[in-house]
Amino acid sequence: MIPLSDNGGNGDKVQNKEEKPPQVTPPAVPTQSQQPPAPKTPPPAPKTPPPTTTKISKDPDKRNFFKMIVGVSAAFTLIPLIPGGIFLTAQVGGGVEPFRQRLANTSDLKPNSGMNFIYPKTGNPDKDNDPFRQFILLRLSEDLAKAEGTAFKAYSQVCVHLWCLWQYVPANESTPGLLACPCHGSMYDPVTGIAICGPAALQSPPNDTLPELKLEIDNEGEIFGVELVGDLGLGRTTDRKPAFSIDCLG
Ligand code: FES
Repeated sequence: MIPLSDNGGNGDKVQNKEEKPPQVTPPAVPTQSQQPPAPKTPPPAPKTPPPTTTKISKDPDKRNFFKMIVGVSAAFTLIPLIPGGIFLTAQVGGGVEPFRQRLANTSDLKPNSGMNFIYPKTGNPDKDNDPFRQFILLRLSEDLAKAEGTAFKAYSQVCVHLWCLWQYVPANESTPGLLACPCHGSMYDPVTGIAICGPAALQSPPNDTLPELKLEIDNEGEIFGVELVGDLGLGRTTDRKPAFSIDCLG
């Protein structure tokens, strides 16, 4: 038998010898000198400039002083813009624009008594609670009223020493009635409002006398405050002398 070949039997001899695959030469490993240089450490990020801050003193006294200066400056800047600012300017060391305000009726107070009131009253609690709007209407004891020729007086309740609020001490065996400050013992004569005891009495005029609210009383006994005389918290000029003296140490 004649063997068949896979080329159609053309008679060419079949090669039995297999061809070897071409050899591939692996890439040469670069030597250390050929290797790319190791990446350098990245340069440090540019420093962010520190935020600019205002230095605040650690000393609380300095801080408070600074706040006070800023606060006072702001207050004086805003006063003209505030409705009713006319009364703000009438606070510490100022007067009050003449303002007629009903306070009470004469029948509301017994002799030798006092009644608190607000002047000028606005109806706004934020303003009306201001100590420099606090006043006391006095009905003097009968003896003092007879000597003075009038029974009713009204004064700012702010003591001219360091601005505590005084209270009326009714007349008794040892006093004809006094306006007594609880803070440092200043006492004022209720007839004139002049300090007769304590540190307020040691201050020079007019800083020893309470600002006074002038009164008008109509035919029906209605009492009106009409005009403040003096500077709130500071004092009032008067040519009067105290109506009496007492033993301040007694
Ligand atoms: S505040 Fe009135 S006596 Fe000092």
